[in-house]
Amino acid sequence: MSVVPFGTVTSVFAPDAVGSTARLRGWVLRSRSSGGILFFLLRDRTGVVQVTARKDALGAETFAAVEHVQVEGAVTVEGAVADDPRAPGGREVRASRITIVDAGQPFPIFADQTEEFRLDQRHLAIRSQEHVATFRVKAELLRAFREFLEAEDVLEVTPPVLSGNAAEGGAEAFRFDYFGRPAYLSQTAQLYLEAMLFPHERVYSLTPSFRAEKSRTPRHLTEYLHLEVELAWCDLDGLLDFIERMVVHVAHAVAERRAPELKQLGRPVAELAGLTAPFPRITYAEAIDRLGALGLSVRWVSDLGTAEERALTVESATPLFVTHFPRELKAFYMLRSANEPRTVEAADLLAPEGFGEIVGASCRETDLARLEERLAEVGADRREYEWYLDLRRHGSVPHAGFGVGVERILRWMLRREHIRETTPFPRTPSRHTP
Ligand code: 4AD
Ligand code: MG
Repeated sequence: MSVVPFGTVTSVFAPDAVGSTARLRGWVLRSRSSGGILFFLLRDRTGVVQVTARKDALGAETFAAVEHVQVEGAVTVEGAVADDPRAPGGREVRASRITIVDAGQPFPIFADQTEEFRLDQRHLAIRSQEHVATFRVKAELLRAFREFLEAEDVLEVTPPVLSGNAAEGGAEAFRFDYFGRPAYLSQTAQLYLEAMLFPHERVYSLTPSFRAEKSRTPRHLTEYLHLEVELAWCDLDGLLDFIERMVVHVAHAVAERRAPELKQLGRPVAELAGLTAPFPRITYAEAIDRLGALGLSVRWVSDLGTAEERALTVESATPLFVTHFPRELKAFYMLRSANEPRTVEAADLLAPEGFGEIVGASCRETDLARLEERLAEVGADRREYEWYLDLRRHGSVPHAGFGVGVERILRWMLRREHIRETTPFPRTPSRHTP
């Protein structure tokens, strides 16, 4: 059917495109008409270009029809590429033919509407330039993670997200009926990654995790994308080295490959491009001293909340590791520290500028008796973990791992106020639709 193949908006901006004929297809971002000339911005997956359409070139009938195309209506355009200093990017397409694919109904989203309304209209709102830029950066971030892990010889595996055990703490798990038996949506893939570590030594997965936390905070989602890594023969220092190299790699990759999008979103590229390892490391004990000096008193065995995490990093451009938390604050599977039995070999990585925790990491307890003791302490139903305990009965070796909240790290990278801006269809306690 098609004679000349369709090009893309980017091709219009190629140095030698002026004078050639472009054939494009896409959506109308906005349009205006004045004195027999119609100007509209056409968007495709590669960018935005101005199209001018004259009544004399299109004929009165087509011109009138095109005038009625709504915002987000879909069209194809054929026309000459010309320089025009008034057009965005200095180029435009002077249409000789336009076909209307779908003229569209009036688009319900425009300036000055409430946030709630926009969230109700999220299926349409995600077409905005800001969302487009955000999800391109997100895709690049995911690509960069995979690239790094691939280079480190870590195998991507596919754990389930539906399970008979709760893993990270039953209270915050979504529980549902599974043919008459209790089941949970996964809060972490960790236990399965630990199982897969024995045949593969280094594994990772990228899965949704679910947290039934009622917290209405700018950094909690009830469903988020979780990148988790599990490494055999690894201690805490080795783990933190790995994490900081990974964070530096993804920050540089995103800064390098998505500079225009970062700029569009108001994020200075230089800060991500200039990130360097090592990141400072302080213990929980040092953190509470430091917080005390800042006038925030935290007693041993109190968790660091949003205010505390913020205070520790708000002045800093580099992420900060907080290590060796009291074991009461952390999950049952974490390795007890050899020289300070009150603490575990664990670390949280806090993002710069007060954005809070982005990575949770720990060495895993390998001792069967201690694991059983901890399960009892946290009041877990031991029968649910029988298979996990088996891993300590057959060639258990030192190992460690971590989980990154993809939207958390992206929120910091893009300096978004709210985490919901980093995911197309945010799931929060008050919203699971559209
Ligand atoms: O610190 P968390 O709970 O650690 C784990 O789940 C470990 N089992 C991971 C592992 O070692 N394999 O969660 C890991 C990360 C947090 O650092 C945070 O970035 C993110 O997951 N996260 C959330 N992101 C968005 N919304 C929430 N409600 C989140 N809860 C945790
Ligand atoms: Mg955590």
